[in-house]
Amino acid sequence: MTKPPLTLYLAAPRGFCAGVDRAIKIVEMALQKWGAPVYVRHEIVHNKFVVDGLRAQGAVFVEELDECPNDRPVIFSAHGVPKSVPATAERREMIYVDATCPLVSKVHVEAQRHAEAGLQMIMIGHKGHPETIGTMGQLPDGEVLLVETVEDVAAVQVRDPGKLAFVTQTTLSVDDTKDIISALEQRFPAIVGPHKEDICYATTNRQEAVKAVAPKSDALLVVGAPNSSNSRRLVEVASRAGCNYAQLVQRATEIDWRALEGISSVAITAGASAPEVLVNEVIDAFRAHYDVTVELVETATENVEFKVPRVLREPA
Ligand code: F3S
Repeated sequence: MTKPPLTLYLAAPRGFCAGVDRAIKIVEMALQKWGAPVYVRHEIVHNKFVVDGLRAQGAVFVEELDECPNDRPVIFSAHGVPKSVPATAERREMIYVDATCPLVSKVHVEAQRHAEAGLQMIMIGHKGHPETIGTMGQLPDGEVLLVETVEDVAAVQVRDPGKLAFVTQTTLSVDDTKDIISALEQRFPAIVGPHKEDICYATTNRQEAVKAVAPKSDALLVVGAPNSSNSRRLVEVASRAGCNYAQLVQRATEIDWRALEGISSVAITAGASAPEVLVNEVIDAFRAHYDVTVELVETATENVEFKVPRVLREPA
């Protein structure tokens, strides 16, 4: 039987960012240096395939430090942790390695700096996401106010409208965040913020690439995990950019072929924590159903790289 033709637009940049790459390397190098088990507080990056792979090498994933013994190394995930976490590890004299993405650490420093200048902090982010918990946890409990939407901005109660600053989660929707920042600036004209916002280069580039492919694709699939903030934003961006069917899939087995019936083009991208091997798996699944022509749509090139912490570069 002849397969129907399909144009597959492969968005670039997609997949692993420099922070995810570094975090995974940190776990692998820690296992080499100290042997198994090495504990990891929270999924090192939000991807089950990556986590399962590291677990098979001897990493033990836990949610809190009290699940770790004192005498084994522990790694903090790329999303960042509240200040209380390294403080507890130090008190317990544990070996710990912080895999917080340097671009998240930069936001932590900003929050600290604003607080030292006497400004009350507002964080734009998603409630309950580990990055939001980590960034808000740089300051004492209750010091950082969270806003998730433009509506939240209207309701937020501040100490002094003249002494305010904001930071953002790094993986938000660029467009939604612009609206929230405008609302903040309108209500609090003196508010101090970062030059643009704290959304990182990888989030911005992946969203831009989706905007380029979504309008010309009958369907768009984002390879990524349901708990990955940046992956979920890519689905929203695709829908808003005019793609009628945008879906998140973790693996090729999750592709809903019935929903894709009759399409002649599809776009594929991947969240910052999704490995390329899963993108290839999805492409191969399309090749099994269609006569596929792949077209790369590249809207930016990336050459960011972050070093692993010194403790892992030194001999044991
Ligand atoms: Fe860092 Fe952005 Fe990736 S904050 S972990 S480079 S998505």
